[in-house]
Amino acid sequence: MSDLQAIDQYLQQSQPKHLDVLKDLLRIPSVSADPAFAEPVRTAAQSVVDTLESAGLQTRLIETQGPPLIYAESPPVPGKPVALVYGHYDVQPPDPLDLWTTPPFEPTERDGNLVARGATDDKGQMLTHINSVAAWNACGQPLPMQVKFLIEGEEEVGSEQLEHYLAQPGISEQLACDVIVISDSSQYADGQPAITYGLRGIAYFELHFDGPRQDLHSGSFGGAVRNPAIALSQLLSKLIDEQGRIQLPGFYDTVEPLQDSEREMWSSLNFSDADFANQLGVKALHGEHGFSTLERRWARPTYDVHGLWSGYQGEGGKTIVPAKAGAKISFRLVPNQSPQQVGQQLRQFVQENTPPGIQIELIDLHGGPGVVVDPNSPFVGAAHKAIELAFGKPPVLIREGGSIPIVAEMVERLNADVLLLGWGLDDDGAHSPNEKFRIEDYFRGIRASSHLWHQLAQL
Ligand code: BES
Ligand code: ZN
Repeated sequence: MSDLQAIDQYLQQSQPKHLDVLKDLLRIPSVSADPAFAEPVRTAAQSVVDTLESAGLQTRLIETQGPPLIYAESPPVPGKPVALVYGHYDVQPPDPLDLWTTPPFEPTERDGNLVARGATDDKGQMLTHINSVAAWNACGQPLPMQVKFLIEGEEEVGSEQLEHYLAQPGISEQLACDVIVISDSSQYADGQPAITYGLRGIAYFELHFDGPRQDLHSGSFGGAVRNPAIALSQLLSKLIDEQGRIQLPGFYDTVEPLQDSEREMWSSLNFSDADFANQLGVKALHGEHGFSTLERRWARPTYDVHGLWSGYQGEGGKTIVPAKAGAKISFRLVPNQSPQQVGQQLRQFVQENTPPGIQIELIDLHGGPGVVVDPNSPFVGAAHKAIELAFGKPPVLIREGGSIPIVAEMVERLNADVLLLGWGLDDDGAHSPNEKFRIEDYFRGIRASSHLWHQLAQL
């Protein structure tokens, strides 16, 4: 029996164990956005350390000012490429809780899926790579190349600590690699695996509008002072027009036009607007005029409002002019757009468009530029083979609209290529209630990863 056959056989037998490892991690509510979860965030980090150690890797927990980082590595293999697996153990808040069929941190098997917050994003996907390394180890076979791991607990809130860590002396040398491997995205569709060659960037802000000292009776004072809720909604609407064009001056200056070859490649993918609208529960899709849905989602910048608050939210009516209004907003960016520059453009826009009678505060929360990967790199070729073997179908090349803010920085500092190998599905419900990961895809991901190390070592 060849080495790889032995590993495949081991993976078959180990499926229950691999599922348990994932369930254990999913039980820990490692929500990075909310300081009340700081302790479970640490517990999750320790659990990942334990899993890496039992996979036979030299592992370190790295303390930071926030959630710990984790670094692990297998022994160097001279003459072979080095891979760095990046992933995150933090998750998005589980709200709204009442929409979950089973509690978010009680992983539940349903219809071939494992349902829990973080199942697909990113605990399940991240664990595929740790389990694959564990499989080589358990079969008594040294990995054919060196694999390093860098796992963080703050991806969902902007990777601030990792950014500091990467800037420290000696770290680029420690993390030196030929290719960064990330599974934190999706397949193209059920039955159609993919390799992602682009992600959007993001620039995220909070905007506060302050009006009168305190809430006022709207009968006595309404009409005499500016209402911060109206002023804020007017400004937020001014940022985009009916054609879906963002109105920040200069915003599109560095946006590269889509290549004809890309547009053709994506239009040949089997995509139905009607099915997509159905999946999302909307009667009509909407986006920037002149672009297809996939182009809008993958390769055009966007603007969104994520949260909006002001005034009375309770039962019944209350007649006030609210003292304050606020919003959380972000722009998804395409490669070559800079989050800092967009921040400056927004600041200027807000200043120029704030009406008298309102005090503003614009807080730059976090951001990171987009990424594009060379789809013709030998690494992509190696991943193609590993995926075809494990998923039974050759992968297609796609871009995706989500962001992994630190990737561009890692690529630059480490001067490495990237492989974005998503094992999830578009309807996994990342960041939504009833997030899931298909159990079969978890196992296929582990198998693809095991073969990836073999394929990369052949280069
Ligand atoms: N796993 C996602 C990134 C992703 C989403 C890639 C969809 C491909 C398709 C990641 O964990 C994530 O959600 N990132 C945040 C970053 C933000 C909070 C700074 C995102 O994209 O909203
Ligand atoms: Zn993620």
